[in-house]
Amino acid sequence: MASLKTTYMGIELETPLVVAASSISSFLERIQSAEQAGAGLLVIRSLFEEQIQLDALRLEESLSVGSESFAEATTYFPNIEHGGADEHLMWIEKTRAGTKLPLVASLNAVSPGAWTKYAKQLESTGVDGLELNIYAVAADPEVSGAQLEKTLFKIVESVVGEVKIPVSVKMSPFYTSVANVAAELDKRGVKGLVLFNRFLQPDIDPGTESLKQEMVYSSPEELKLPLRWVALLYGRVKADLALNTGVHSGTDAAKAFLAGAQIVQIASALLENGIPYLSTMLRELEGWMDEHGYENLQEVRGKMSQKKIEDPFGFERAQYVKLLMSQK
Ligand SMILES: Cc1cc2nc3c(=O)[nH]c(=O)nc-3n(C[C@H](O)[C@H](O)[C@H](O)COP(=O)(O)O)c2cc1C
Repeated sequence: MASLKTTYMGIELETPLVVAASSISSFLERIQSAEQAGAGLLVIRSLFEEQIQLDALRLEESLSVGSESFAEATTYFPNIEHGGADEHLMWIEKTRAGTKLPLVASLNAVSPGAWTKYAKQLESTGVDGLELNIYAVAADPEVSGAQLEKTLFKIVESVVGEVKIPVSVKMSPFYTSVANVAAELDKRGVKGLVLFNRFLQPDIDPGTESLKQEMVYSSPEELKLPLRWVALLYGRVKADLALNTGVHSGTDAAKAFLAGAQIVQIASALLENGIPYLSTMLRELEGWMDEHGYENLQEVRGKMSQKKIEDPFGFERAQYVKLLMSQK
């Protein structure tokens, strides 16, 4: 039977299937179910910048009795179920006590600020690593890509300087040069690159002429985007590559490791099929490795990366031209 043991950012994992930041980490039963099913690590849902602002507003409110600011402010953040940062930190401590799984905390960082101290507080809960979730839509026409990247690097530098645990960045796929941003993050001491953050796309309901903000799970088709970028970056950055988005089966995970992923992160497949489905995925991956004669993940990793395959342009433009020209 093939061994699935691996490491991620220097953390020892029993398996390379990792629970992505999601509502799975909001319930101890789900976390323990993931542990039983054989997850290698759990990423805890993000502490959002808005939650930190919420705590600051609460403090302001408690200092100025009679003010309406807090009640008003909470309506600005209708999507926050878990209250402020303090509740979040307490929940992580409870999670730490309730599972033996390695844990990574996630911080949603959009702008540099005093809140970087929360990176330190997350570290003090006993987590093994910290993931930075840079979830922001670059919608301001006055702000250039270069400016956005400068902000990103500033955030990363301040957080990496603040904590001793390894830091990863959950990247957006929408940079003009994903490879360059990855390399720049690598230079700044990031130990993991999570490819990619999945931006929720609001829909429009033509009946009510209103915005539809619903959580739509990923599909296996979405795997191709991170697969390409993992294959392109493998061997070109020191940081471990975590493939995220669209992993729905053990064979999807096999593709990720062939491309060069160190681990895969999964949310949708577990929320759709139930957490124990993770053990089915693990069995499928093991079965595939046995069938192909692999004893461990090192033998698989990166075999289909751009660096190693015979057609290095397969992941770039050449394939595109060939395919389009061959269509009747
Ligand atoms: C219900 C739900 C909650 C999520 N919460 C977070 C979060 O707090 N932080 C984060 O970085 N990503 C969050 N995500 C995104 C997932 O971590 C993951 O990046 C995304 O779902 C793509 O992976 P998948 O294809 O396996 O679902 C959430 C996803 C879902 C479905």
